[in-house]
Amino acid sequence: MISFAGGPSVLPPEVLNEIGQAIGEWGGTGRSVLELPFGGNEYSTIHGEFEADLRALLALPQEYRVLVLQGGAFAQFRLVPLNLLRPSDRAAYVETGYWSARAIAEASHVCHVAIAAHERHAIPPVETWHIPRGAVYCHVTGNETADGVQFHEFPAMGNVPLVADLTADLLTGPIEIRHFGLIYASAQKNLGAAGLTIVIIREDLLGRGRAEIPAPLNYTLQARTGSRVNTPPIFAVYVAGRMLRWLRSQGGLAGAAARRQRRSGMLYRVIDERDLYSCPVDPPDRSHVSVCFHLPNAALETAFLAGARHRGLLHLEGHPANGGIRACLYNAMPEADVAVLADFMTEFADTNAQARRR
Ligand SMILES: Cc1ncc(COP(=O)(O)O)c(C=O)c1O
Repeated sequence: MISFAGGPSVLPPEVLNEIGQAIGEWGGTGRSVLELPFGGNEYSTIHGEFEADLRALLALPQEYRVLVLQGGAFAQFRLVPLNLLRPSDRAAYVETGYWSARAIAEASHVCHVAIAAHERHAIPPVETWHIPRGAVYCHVTGNETADGVQFHEFPAMGNVPLVADLTADLLTGPIEIRHFGLIYASAQKNLGAAGLTIVIIREDLLGRGRAEIPAPLNYTLQARTGSRVNTPPIFAVYVAGRMLRWLRSQGGLAGAAARRQRRSGMLYRVIDERDLYSCPVDPPDRSHVSVCFHLPNAALETAFLAGARHRGLLHLEGHPANGGIRACLYNAMPEADVAVLADFMTEFADTNAQARRR
């Protein structure tokens, strides 16, 4: 069985194996990783290794802080403005699909939102973005998981810090970290288990949180306490730590970028070669992690999904907002499994080409 789900994603067998052992007993302590108190040395070791590996992979400069939070990226949609803005402040948002629209809807409850640019099947060129005077930050969604659009490069915005939801693409390739004031991502797509939300924030953006933010979700308090305002998601941090080690052993972010390109390339090749499939996204902006496409009608899509399921290819339904087909190809997705899907797509197209012509 191969799962192409939007998340949680598949994990490498060697990581699953380590997790299994650690659930039995961790690090010579005689206790399960699930039983470690968060104030003790054991969790300090797990947390320290997780942060050191994350910093190494992203080449994080000293002035960026790593926060371990909970609540998912969805909670950050509202927490980012609550932590960075006063109610009268303004922030610019680039709308490129379903998830940026959700981020905008949440932020609109607590600040003034200006839409800097709006495009559905492409990344609008930065020259066309309108950033209003006084905007405190500009928000982008690195990968639109429901729409299949991805930023392959992030612009340098000068004085307006870029704030990015990188839930689907953090650690799938190198990024120029100095372009960002803040990055947030939940872990369950490219970094393991659900329950961990990573926030990476430039120090000068701390100290602005509003009084009404619950303490565990206040960036400044979490930065001050080493993300220990309350019990952190210890198990999810442990799993993310194992994924970071695995990524480092697999060629780091350059290796991850090469793999994501090869995986998605296999599917886009079939989409472009076979008339049965169509992808509405501008080719240069197509996502390497969420490949979205359509067949000519609902009956063929139903038949495609049934045939795929029969082959053990699961969770290929498109996001409910858009329908169609979607294959999510996160960090741990083996290339051989994507090749099985590509072969099935070719075969399905060839079998149904006749039916389509009739
Ligand atoms: C780009 C993006 N942002 C945010 C979210 C929401 O993440 P969570 O469910 O962890 O809150 C998702 C979930 O799929 C996503 O793909």
